Amino acid sequence: MASRTFSRFLFYLFFLAIPTPAPSVPTSNSLLDLAHSAEFKDWLVSTRRKLHQWPELAFQEVKTSELIRFELDRFGIEYTWPIAKTGLVATIGSGSGPVFGLRADMDALPLQEKVEWEYKSRVDGKMHACGHDLHVTMLLGAARLLQQHKDQLKGTVKLFFQPGEEGHAGAYYMIKEGALQDVQAMFALHVDPHTAVGTITSKPGPFLAAAGRFHVTIKGKGGHGAIPQQTIDPIIAASFVILGLQQLVSRESDPLESRVVSIGFVKAGEGAYNVIPETATFGGTFRSLTTEGFSYLKQRIKEIIETQASVHRCTASVDFMENTLIPYPPLINHISMYDHAKAVGERLLGGAKVQLMGPIMGAEDFSFFSQKIPAAMFFIGVGSETVDQVHSLHSPYFFADEKSLAIGAALHAAVAIEYLDKNLNNAPSNEEKVKVI
Ligand code: NI
Repeated sequence: MASRTFSRFLFYLFFLAIPTPAPSVPTSNSLLDLAHSAEFKDWLVSTRRKLHQWPELAFQEVKTSELIRFELDRFGIEYTWPIAKTGLVATIGSGSGPVFGLRADMDALPLQEKVEWEYKSRVDGKMHACGHDLHVTMLLGAARLLQQHKDQLKGTVKLFFQPGEEGHAGAYYMIKEGALQDVQAMFALHVDPHTAVGTITSKPGPFLAAAGRFHVTIKGKGGHGAIPQQTIDPIIAASFVILGLQQLVSRESDPLESRVVSIGFVKAGEGAYNVIPETATFGGTFRSLTTEGFSYLKQRIKEIIETQASVHRCTASVDFMENTLIPYPPLINHISMYDHAKAVGERLLGGAKVQLMGPIMGAEDFSFFSQKIPAAMFFIGVGSETVDQVHSLHSPYFFADEKSLAIGAALHAAVAIEYLDKNLNNAPSNEEKVKVI
């Protein structure tokens, strides 16, 4: 009896002596496996389709925001809302540093969808043609994955659901309302229909352009088309001005530096063939991969318009609309953040599936975040093998392969988890940001 008690004692002692293993941090691959489980994938697809059917424009993302909050509530994830009208920031993890940010934009475009499929937009004149419905779904997927591992997170992840990316600088307003606060570094994905599902692309350094707009009114003196000497023709003046603007890129810019000045519209007269109108208006966009290049273009656009107009005896007013539509700074991918996301992507998808791309002159307001903290954005392939013709972002025929959703969710989560794992309390300084690569 005594010896049986003793052996039982030894038995318990044996188990007590074994240290309880610390819960392990999920690997990239286990996250991908979770995201690829049938239930998870079905949930991602149905969430995306709901969002796609009910697109909302910038700062009107009321239902979108509601759906996000519903899902976050369902998974017991805390969030701060509203930020910048319809935006919100969800928080998962220990509550202490390091703090890492993930971002998805929520707004759609004023565009009539022309893709005939069961889950086509149900709102006339509005469409998720830039894939922000996919972005929101991927980030919700990441939220769910992170929440499943919340006790193992070595810090805090903040998930930014951002309004008004399409020209309305929603990121700027989220920062203005203090959403960035203690976030040390940040990551975002943007879908790309020209890249196959399973591949991601990006580059370190200057990645997307700074972009601004200008609206011009040239005033002359109207009159009869048969008696031009009694008029001051604003159409001729506008023509010279527009041609003059072309020389900004072709003659004044270094051919190795990327800049764009494009006129998007010209309006003058009411359609009468024999009337010289009083005014002509036109407008356009200007872009550069550097802040310096952007400032130079802005200054010269104003000078050329005003002086050329006066050569033709007209007056000109130039409006850069900076109070209502804030220009976007260039998106500079921070080298360390780029390297980090690239390494995570290679582990998750395989080395060949993470590809280097050149910079492009499109703009994205994730750049406001990248100005404040180390940040990187990657494109994620949504190109479908079954589609004959690929249509670009902002096309009414834009179509995305939903197999990308699970990959996007796992990638977001893995980039955040591995960032916290590295415990980069001393996040790289902004001075490390490269100017030109
Ligand atoms: Ni977009």
